[in-house]
Amino acid sequence: MSSGGVPSAAATSSSQCCGQHGSRGHSARRAPPLAIHEQEVGVADTLQLEPLTEEAFVANLQQRFKRDLIYTSAGDVLVSVNPYKKLALYSLDVVEAYRTKALLSHLPPHIFALADKAHWNLRERNEEQCVVVSGESGSGKTEAARIVLQYVTVAGSGPTGAQQDPSLAPIKQVRDRLLQAGPLLEAFGNAKTHKNDNSSRFGKYLDVEFDFKGDPVGGTFTSYLLEKSRVTRQLAGERNFHIFYQLLTGADIQLLKSLKLHRNIDNYAFLRPSRPLSMETIDDKRDFQVTKKALETLGFSAEDVVQIFKVVASVLKLGNIGFTPTSNIDGTEGCTVTNDYELFEVCGLLGTNPMELTSALTQRTILAGPVLDSPSTNPAPPPPPPCGSLRGVKSGGCSSSVAGTPPSFVPSSSMSSTGSRDVYEVCEMLQHSTLARLTLADERGSSSTAGELVVADLSASEATASRDILCRALYSRLFAWLVKQVNDATRVRKYGKRKVLGIMDIYGFEVFDQNNFEQFIINFCNEKLQQAVAECTLRLRQDEMLREGIEWTPVDFFNNTPVCELIEKNNHGILAVLDEESQRGGPGGDESFLARLCHTCGSSAYFETRNCAPHSAPTDLPCNTSVPPNCFRLRHYAGTVTYNVAGFVEKNNDTLPLDLSLAMFRCEHPLLKNLFPEGNPKRTTLKRAASAGTQFKISVGALMGNLQSKTPHFIRCIKPNELKQPRIFENALVQHQVRYLCLVQTIKVRKTSFAHSESYESFLHRYKMLSPHTWPCWRGSAVEGASYLLRDLPLSSPHFAFGRTKIFIRSERTVSELEEFRRQRLEDLAASVQKMWRGYRCRQRYLLMRQSQIVIASAWRSWRAREEYRELKRRKQIEWAVQVIQTHYLQWRRRQYLQRLCVSLPSDSPVCREWPMAAKRLADANLMLRRMHHKWRCHKYRLKFDQTARNRMREKVTASIIFKDRKASYPRSVSHPFLGDYVRLRQNVQWKKICVETNDQYVVFADIINKITRSSGKFVPILFVLSTSSMLILDQRTLQIKYRVPATEIYRLSLSPYLDDVAIFHIKASCELPNLAHEAGCSDCSRAGGSSPLQGAEHATGCLFQSDLGKKKGDFVFHTGHVIEIVTKLFLVVQNAVGKPPEVNINTEFEANFGSQSVMFSFKCAGLPEVQPGQIKIMRKGSRMEVLV
Ligand SMILES: Nc1ncnc2c1ncn2[C@@H]1O[C@H](COP(=O)(O)OP(=O)(O)O)[C@@H](O)[C@H]1O
Ligand SMILES: [Mg+2]
Repeated sequence: MSSGGVPSAAATSSSQCCGQHGSRGHSARRAPPLAIHEQEVGVADTLQLEPLTEEAFVANLQQRFKRDLIYTSAGDVLVSVNPYKKLALYSLDVVEAYRTKALLSHLPPHIFALADKAHWNLRERNEEQCVVVSGESGSGKTEAARIVLQYVTVAGSGPTGAQQDPSLAPIKQVRDRLLQAGPLLEAFGNAKTHKNDNSSRFGKYLDVEFDFKGDPVGGTFTSYLLEKSRVTRQLAGERNFHIFYQLLTGADIQLLKSLKLHRNIDNYAFLRPSRPLSMETIDDKRDFQVTKKALETLGFSAEDVVQIFKVVASVLKLGNIGFTPTSNIDGTEGCTVTNDYELFEVCGLLGTNPMELTSALTQRTILAGPVLDSPSTNPAPPPPPPCGSLRGVKSGGCSSSVAGTPPSFVPSSSMSSTGSRDVYEVCEMLQHSTLARLTLADERGSSSTAGELVVADLSASEATASRDILCRALYSRLFAWLVKQVNDATRVRKYGKRKVLGIMDIYGFEVFDQNNFEQFIINFCNEKLQQAVAECTLRLRQDEMLREGIEWTPVDFFNNTPVCELIEKNNHGILAVLDEESQRGGPGGDESFLARLCHTCGSSAYFETRNCAPHSAPTDLPCNTSVPPNCFRLRHYAGTVTYNVAGFVEKNNDTLPLDLSLAMFRCEHPLLKNLFPEGNPKRTTLKRAASAGTQFKISVGALMGNLQSKTPHFIRCIKPNELKQPRIFENALVQHQVRYLCLVQTIKVRKTSFAHSESYESFLHRYKMLSPHTWPCWRGSAVEGASYLLRDLPLSSPHFAFGRTKIFIRSERTVSELEEFRRQRLEDLAASVQKMWRGYRCRQRYLLMRQSQIVIASAWRSWRAREEYRELKRRKQIEWAVQVIQTHYLQWRRRQYLQRLCVSLPSDSPVCREWPMAAKRLADANLMLRRMHHKWRCHKYRLKFDQTARNRMREKVTASIIFKDRKASYPRSVSHPFLGDYVRLRQNVQWKKICVETNDQYVVFADIINKITRSSGKFVPILFVLSTSSMLILDQRTLQIKYRVPATEIYRLSLSPYLDDVAIFHIKASCELPNLAHEAGCSDCSRAGGSSPLQGAEHATGCLFQSDLGKKKGDFVFHTGHVIEIVTKLFLVVQNAVGKPPEVNINTEFEANFGSQSVMFSFKCAGLPEVQPGQIKIMRKGSRMEVLV
């Protein structure tokens, strides 16, 4: 086993994705990331190689090999030279580089590039792909297939994709299982040979299934003919299958104990030939762990694993069983088991009875006598018992012989059937260890003689052979079962469209000193593969060119079809002859086969035996001593191989004696029932298997058909030396391989032909988006469309050729460019689709949003309006309520106020100033009411007035009208009642007399006041009397009237605004006076002329007033404390007398008429020092009279 398992890409370190190349003992050289970009050494693409000769090609390979550049492109084929050492060519960086750029950038040839192309085709072109790896044994096919598998399993979601994304866990599981299947199958199916330390001893074809994204979803392994003979026999220096060594070296002691094994390899006969072996490249201990891990990954339970190892251990232990010859009574040879303890242990492992196993190994049940209804068409006589001596043969005949078991990989449909009832009965009989005679001839009405079923003892050598058959069967069937289990584990469990990528890794062409049936089969397989590769790369390509009418010079190549036909041709091929011989049975089969072969195939140029050389008649005996006896030689494409026919017939028959099948089936070991189903006595159908050769031919034919249905990719592996050593490049060896692989011819064909051909329809379909003429749809013919398309592309016409139905593209580079154009265009188209879609989606969203917005807005607005309305209503209600409350409150307050007012009205006295307080709001009303009340109480008060009081009132009111706010001394007078007669003049007797004379009975005012002298302003006390008709100035002591001025004569009253008590009464001085005076004077005088109290000259004129008034006196100036009262009363008197009030002049300056002169009175109120408070000072200054207040 190479590496003992390559960790999956996901599980490997980042530096090595597809590493562990089985180049044991060689340390990996770490190259910097993307060392692939190193400067080119030699020619990477040998299409450019000049001159293109075999030597140049090999030299180029060698040059590159020296620099560890193991991959070289040879047209469509990738040439891989086995480096026999680890190279840092498979890191994640490199995977990533090829995964993302391989098709488009021109990276150096690499296995990743090929794998990527296959994977890309699968993904992008939706075509099934197949990677065919071919080459000699040890050339690196298995490694290449493993690398391809590892690459394609990570190509979809990337090397680290599955680890990062949990949704990719199933992919990771599939990937792990597919990758782990390799180490497992290699452990059981690979062995160290002279050619290869990890030589595949079975053919392997894996169909990996991918989903549309290019991620693996499962896979199916098909195995081809395991070289089971290796179980019991190996060439010196070779080894048995790896698992035996792994188990013994790697298993822990408990496991070994439970398997009844010892660690020492020398203890086991089947492994002994492999000693001594240099083990430097194989680490069985480590590989055992890898195998166990693979079993675990693939879902084998711990119990399964133990059962598997039990079978493996049983094989090893069976190999140790020896047989001692014995002699039977009848003189025949028999044998007994030499080492019973081994047998017991085997029985313990397999769960069977030692007796049963012993008899199965040392005896054989056979049919004696003629056989009826032989399935063979061979007219040969019925065979004698194949071996052993008959013992206890009983009477009766059997019409049927019991065939051995079919190899497990053979489809049962290819077996010929014998009478099932017969077989059943035989089985039954054997099961009960009863010898029986079966006579079926009577039942069938046959006239033939019936055969007899007998048990024969086997000789020691026969028993050994029987033991070996059992071991081989056990192991090969276990292997087949493992493949089936692996397929179960990697079965696709996902529904959906799937595409398949096949990876083929069959055993390589091999030539040993001694070549047997296995080598023949292996080389036949390689021959077929070579034929298929040559077909694809050379013949079909050339045929296509010719068919399509492309100018073409044919290239010759070695056509191995005759060799293939020589082997597989029906009836006359080697396999057909072998089949015939196998069916014939009997001793000497191999020699007979060789003789027949010589007869049938002797004429072939590719065949020779000792007795017949190419082109020589088979009768020319002996003519060819170069061929050893019992051998035939074939000229294969890869060289001439001499096969020893020994064992050909037996191996081709591949039968397992029924005794062994039954014994195995009856074991308690759970696997054995599966492995030996034909041992089931209840089986109702038992068919004879087709021969191993025929089966192999059929399955290889199917494999080739499978390959042809897919797009193939070829990897040609080349072995640089036979020593399995790095850095050794044996020119001759490589040149030989280059020659038989037809690499130079392949390049020649490819050089002059085209890299890619495709039908016009498919070409147009794939690239139509690259031209405006063909995009989005083209209605013309496909050829026309293709030519339009190419015209619109920046590619020159020599890159293309137009065939009859296909277009041919010269180079891979052009294909890559076309793909790049397509990719870019698709990106653009995707962008515009995306744009449109996004735009559409955004618009839809916008419209929806707008619609929603409208709905929301209208809902919101109506809600808001409702809310507002509600709010408004509420506010209105509140306002209304407030108003109502306010109104009622105010009314209440008013009522309260009025009620309170009603009880708290002040007194009715008009001078009472009290009034209840009211709220601010009622202040106006309160004021009004107060006024009204005041008016009312005044009115009431007035109502109580008598005439006098009324008059007084009238005087007061008049005083108020005249002086209020005009005269400073007015307020003083308000509270002072206008008594009028302060001197009780009315009671004065004298006055009573006088007043009658002057008709002044109605005294309004009488008091002693100061008359201010006109000349000096001095105060002269006088009695001032005011009657209803006149103003009188009397002497205070004598009561003599000094002046009497009728009220009508007084026209103006002048006062200062100050506090002084000065008043000036202006007396008319006009010429009208006489009349007035006459009227008044006359009456006065007439009255005065009677008994008048008036004295002096004045009184003598009788017109005292008149003359004084008119000539001398002029205006009077008085000073009195009752100035307000006097002026008021005078005012009223004058008003009453004249009908119109006198003028009241309140001023600081006014004129006064002092007789002939006019004096200007000037009042000053300056707080002068010379004037005492409350007093006045009057000074006469010319025509000015200054009154200082
Ligand atoms: N690409 C490679 N890099 C390193 N070693 C390789 C490579 N290919 C093959 N080998 C070595 O060659 C040995 C044989 O390869 P293998 O693939 O088993 O040959 P084949 O399958 O053709 O018989 C491997 O065990 C490994 O040591
Ligand atoms: Mg191999």
